[in-house]
Amino acid sequence: MKKGKNIAIFASHNGSNLNAIIHASKQKVIDSTVCLVISNNHDALALVKAQKNNIPNYVINSKTVDNVESAMLNLLVKYDIDLIFLAGYLKKIDDSILKKYNNCILNIHPSLLPKYGGKGMYGINIHNAVIDAKEPYTGVSVHMVNEEYDSGKIIVQKQIKVSTDDTPQSLQEKVLELEHMIIVDVLKKIENNIILL
Ligand code: GRF
Repeated sequence: MKKGKNIAIFASHNGSNLNAIIHASKQKVIDSTVCLVISNNHDALALVKAQKNNIPNYVINSKTVDNVESAMLNLLVKYDIDLIFLAGYLKKIDDSILKKYNNCILNIHPSLLPKYGGKGMYGINIHNAVIDAKEPYTGVSVHMVNEEYDSGKIIVQKQIKVSTDDTPQSLQEKVLELEHMIIVDVLKKIENNIILL
């Protein structure tokens, strides 16, 4: 299989992880390229980031297409996608996409899964829960995507210390910064067959 992958990013909101990958690709830190961005949310800043970088980007939801699943599959085929990275994508992935891209769909999550994953565990909710539970550590997980939220095989985890003066917001910032490094690192490792999908 070729080293540089054609990546599709699915994102529902800000797209800072998308930016991290675009930057790494431009700087030739990785050989892979973001070839497609899909969002369910018309207002996602991830779409603006894609547009600024001339990356094909689409809003796919039940208002924009008749059949979300087949519209997505068509785009994945059209752009010859090898790898899908979910970066803040808040929808479940349909079965047909899971089947076609078996073991080629990854998600990045801002906690040490299996802790603080699953329904309702997104955004600041995660960091609120970590602080409430007085966890000594939190971190980032990258995992394979299956039919349940945040429950596929974990590929990489990195932890950071939670300090006594951390707030949910400060933790969110620290974890996001760590995510930007890890998402690029994972792609490098996939390219070099250190991580085997
Ligand atoms: C990240 O914290 C990611 O782990 C989670 O959603 C957030 C997306 O951030 N799944 P961004 O849109 O990449 O800035």
